Amino acid sequence: MGPMSILVTGCAGFIGWKVSEMLLSEGQTVVGVDNMNNAYDVRLKEWRLSLIRDNPDFTSHRVDITDRNALSQVVDDGRIDAVINLGQPGPACAKAWRCPTSTTIQT
Ligand SMILES: NC(=O)c1ccc[n+]([C@@H]2O[C@H](COP(=O)([O-])OP(=O)(O)OC[C@H]3O[C@@H](n4cnc5c(N)ncnc54)[C@H](O)[C@@H]3O)[C@@H](O)[C@H]2O)c1
Repeated sequence: MGPMSILVTGCAGFIGWKVSEMLLSEGQTVVGVDNMNNAYDVRLKEWRLSLIRDNPDFTSHRVDITDRNALSQVVDDGRIDAVINLGQPGPACAKAWRCPTSTTIQT
């Protein structure tokens, strides 16, 4: 089987970036999506992306996954074989109670 084209949401996040990097190192194609929200310092997200941006098998889109039209455009633009959905606040964000998405956190 040839390389897969994998949509990774939250590709600039702690987990999404690492997953993207690992997939790329295996020769897979990664279509990354992230809204680059400011739940924590955006420079950290930009730095992560800078480490994988030059890989020709990686494309990234600044898109909010709740924006159906924008997301459809990304998906329609190319083949997607699988989706890894990590575009959600992680533990650090949840602790800070600063999650800018519509996610509800219950204690
Ligand atoms: N970090 C951990 O230790 C850990 C452990 C287990 C599970 N997880 C899960 O992994 C997921 C990601 O966690 P993380 O630690 O990488 O968090 P993170 O905040 O570092 O990464 C999430 C990324 O998603 C993006 N994002 C958030 N909402 C979005 C939206 N609506 N549209 C597009 N992009 C959006 C953010 O900008 C961010 O870059 C979460 O579901 C978390 O529960 C994390």
